[in-house]
Amino acid sequence: MPRPILPEPPDELKHLSDSLSSRIRDEIRRHGMIPFSRFMERALYEPGQGYYSAGLHKLGAAGDFVTAPELGSLFAACLARQVAEVAAILGPFDILEVGAGSGRLAADLLRELEADRLPGRYLILETSADLRQVQRECIAGAAPAWLDRVTWLDEPPAADWNGVLIANEVVDALAVERFQATGSAIEQLCVTERDGSFGWASRAAPADLEAAVRRLESSVGRAFPAGYRSEVHMQLPPWLELLTGRMRRGLALFIDYGYPRREYYLPERSDGTLMCHYRHRAHDDAFFWPGLQDITAWVDFTALAEAADACGLEVVGYSSQAMFLLGCGLDRVLAARGDGREDMALALNAEARQLTLPGMMGERFQAMGLGRDLGEGAEQPLRGFSLQDLRYRL
Ligand SMILES: C[S@@+](CC[C@H](N)C(=O)[O-])C[C@H]1O[C@@H](n2cnc3c(N)ncnc32)[C@H](O)[C@@H]1O
Repeated sequence: MPRPILPEPPDELKHLSDSLSSRIRDEIRRHGMIPFSRFMERALYEPGQGYYSAGLHKLGAAGDFVTAPELGSLFAACLARQVAEVAAILGPFDILEVGAGSGRLAADLLRELEADRLPGRYLILETSADLRQVQRECIAGAAPAWLDRVTWLDEPPAADWNGVLIANEVVDALAVERFQATGSAIEQLCVTERDGSFGWASRAAPADLEAAVRRLESSVGRAFPAGYRSEVHMQLPPWLELLTGRMRRGLALFIDYGYPRREYYLPERSDGTLMCHYRHRAHDDAFFWPGLQDITAWVDFTALAEAADACGLEVVGYSSQAMFLLGCGLDRVLAARGDGREDMALALNAEARQLTLPGMMGERFQAMGLGRDLGEGAEQPLRGFSLQDLRYRL
């Protein structure tokens, strides 16, 4: 992908990025090269300096990208209907939101659920100290009555809980390993330094990465040809286990952009799915001002389903975001909000289109529901998965 012309960051932000870059370069000098996953981890999450940790305005129109909850409250209203259905099965329940961004989804969900069924606790697991503060302010402003139900966690719950886990656009933000095939071997793509700039390097893949890539090859039924590069979320299985280990009964809902494995590792997708966002421009230069831009990789939903299986979770649904939101009752939400004002109706329709049209978020984003012990209540598909069942593609 040719890099679009990107706006020049202001000097104070360049200084912030220079300082992070020089710390990463120190690590590279000590080791010769570092795995790309390590570079991505530091670029995104280095305390005080990483993209998600440095107090920058990332989400929304003034930031670098817009997520579904940032577009308005329709996404939250649909999710609330899914949460209410699960709550009716479970009785008293909690919500665990992982990676809550600006806090907008939490605030809107609590407001939507107010009329129906509030969680006992709204737990937020968030790595970024800076974003925790943003989330607190957002919820205090938009849903003050329910702020006392919200608790920020450093670790996933250590005691048993029942309820709904929500992770919107979080898996794509986990650090990924990049690999390349040489025809006979698998190499780990690494980051090195050349003349003061970051650059790609490679070395023989460590045994766990090589084994993971060989499993991918046997899963898609062909070897990756020489020069083929892609990504693998090595930390997904232990991460999912950690997140859901104490969820005794409930639904874990992951919404993200991605593909089932066979589409993820298509022969023609020979340079992987890595994508960076800076001021609403998407490009693939992962070394552009580290700490100032988002770096993501698409999600292999088959890998998520396999990780779920290993944790004893059942894939209870998999569909496009569009069909998930429609299944949740997007049309009913829209109808209930039609208060006769044309400007309002137009804005809501524009938001609904952005969430559901195939060329926008509707198809690229997919929803996967992982259930545990939902009992008889789960004999029918959950409402979000009632219109489309893509599990056969996993
Ligand atoms: C792309 S943003 C999505 C934010 C929000 N869910 C939304 O839809 O607007 C990714 C979020 O996940 C958080 N995050 C990334 N890795 C995480 C992890 N391992 N545990 C918890 N939060 C994480 C980031 O700090 C950020 O809040």
